[in-house]
Amino acid sequence: MPLRIALLTSEMTPYSKTGGLADVTGALAKHLALAGHEVHAFTPLYQGVDRARFGIGPSVQGIATVTTGSGALVHFIDDPALYARGDLYTDDVDEHLRFIALTRAAFETCRRIGFSPHILHCNDWHTAFGPLLLEAEYSRDPVFAATRSVLTIHNIGYQGSFDARFVGDLGLADLARLHQDDLRAGFVNALKHGILYAHAITTVSPTYAREISTAEYGMGLEETLRDRAGDLTGILNGVDYDEWDPRRDRFLPIHYDEHALGAKAELKRTFLAREGLPFRNGVPLLGIVSRLAVQKGFELLFDTLPPLLAENRVQLVALGSGEARYEDFFAGLARDYPQAARFRAGYDEARAHWIEAASDFFLMPSRYEPCGLNQMYSLRYGTVPIVRRTGGLADSVEHFDRATGRGTGIVFNDFDAPAMAWALTRALTLYADKTAFAQLVRNGMAQDFSWAHQAGEYVALYEQLVGSE
Ligand code: ADP
Ligand code: GLC
Repeated sequence: MPLRIALLTSEMTPYSKTGGLADVTGALAKHLALAGHEVHAFTPLYQGVDRARFGIGPSVQGIATVTTGSGALVHFIDDPALYARGDLYTDDVDEHLRFIALTRAAFETCRRIGFSPHILHCNDWHTAFGPLLLEAEYSRDPVFAATRSVLTIHNIGYQGSFDARFVGDLGLADLARLHQDDLRAGFVNALKHGILYAHAITTVSPTYAREISTAEYGMGLEETLRDRAGDLTGILNGVDYDEWDPRRDRFLPIHYDEHALGAKAELKRTFLAREGLPFRNGVPLLGIVSRLAVQKGFELLFDTLPPLLAENRVQLVALGSGEARYEDFFAGLARDYPQAARFRAGYDEARAHWIEAASDFFLMPSRYEPCGLNQMYSLRYGTVPIVRRTGGLADSVEHFDRATGRGTGIVFNDFDAPAMAWALTRALTLYADKTAFAQLVRNGMAQDFSWAHQAGEYVALYEQLVGSE
């Protein structure tokens, strides 16, 4: 049975993106629509959205709608007072309101166009009030009487807490459904209300689903999650191979697959030359593309990477922006080791694709990682991921065993410098063993994390919810 799905998200590829949330919601909308479901996505019309490029016409009652190639409809909430700001996310005092407005606009638009969703799928703290608003208000409207809500947690580190003096911004007739202890303590936690009220809660990998139910990873929400353990599942993200595949990557001048790795070597040479780095036979290139946040664990490189660069045993290309201490570290490496390291601060899509293709290894030493996409992209590009065993990294990369020839990457357990150093040494040893390394690369390239499959897991969940009306 085709389902009617309202998908609410604060960012969505290709219109707006700061991280994986955009890739996931963009690809999920597309693959649900391709599977025959009726998908209406709701997202802000930020000032950075390229209206001309995407054929986004004038707004009608504050909404501009486009039909995408897959058949999914995207409704952009056009409110310059809220969304015409420098960045997608701000520290402004009305940050909560910007996304409460998005959530309400989704309900109001469904109502106006007569779209009666089976499923209201909310993502992260931004739209986490959806399930509460559904229960408290909108379910009384026949349009939403049968609607079931899903909250997907992409990152529990961002909860959208705001001062209780702004509670009126929710527009609730009575406050009884809000978390009363928090309210008395003077704040409202958006994500917590999503967990309390969603009919089903998902997160983006099975391991992270287990992790966030513990004090170590739950960021204070572990008890709330444990109370809903029966309704919490982990569904690993997929990869949009239309965008991320070296066989057809539109950012690359030449293409390759597991039978034509010569082109990958050529891309590495081209990229190094472009970066002004020398090509060094037998020296692996390490790649990084990341938000530079505490989550990503780059302090593990502070002491472990400089000696390797100093001795010309590895080269590094890093791309990312975020906290100053990480930006300073990578900028310092580029300054101190001009023959071995490059760093570009900022966001650069083309460069992200080049780094995936040109590198020999990809570094993701995350402190925590709900899913992570770049390790899965790396596998497809024949770029061996070096990851910590946490969250989606644990679920998508298998440590390579030279004895059996099985495994797709280098996986270390502990979040400390010795474990990181061990992983880097392991990488160098494997790289020097041409037969083992070739096997490792081939194993990775044979992995398949396509959305066509992962979207099916969401459909199964939706169907279960609709069936349990
Ligand atoms: P997160 O969502 O926590 O940032 P993911 O691994 O899920 O981590 O997704 C990150 C996505 O953002 C990937 O598609 C990655 O290529 C992209 N990305 C991150 N930083 C940059 C950057 N500086 N320039 C271009 N793309 C970036
Ligand atoms: C979050 C997580 C990342 C995940 C992405 C998409 O930003 O940090 O691990 O892949 O969301 O679900």
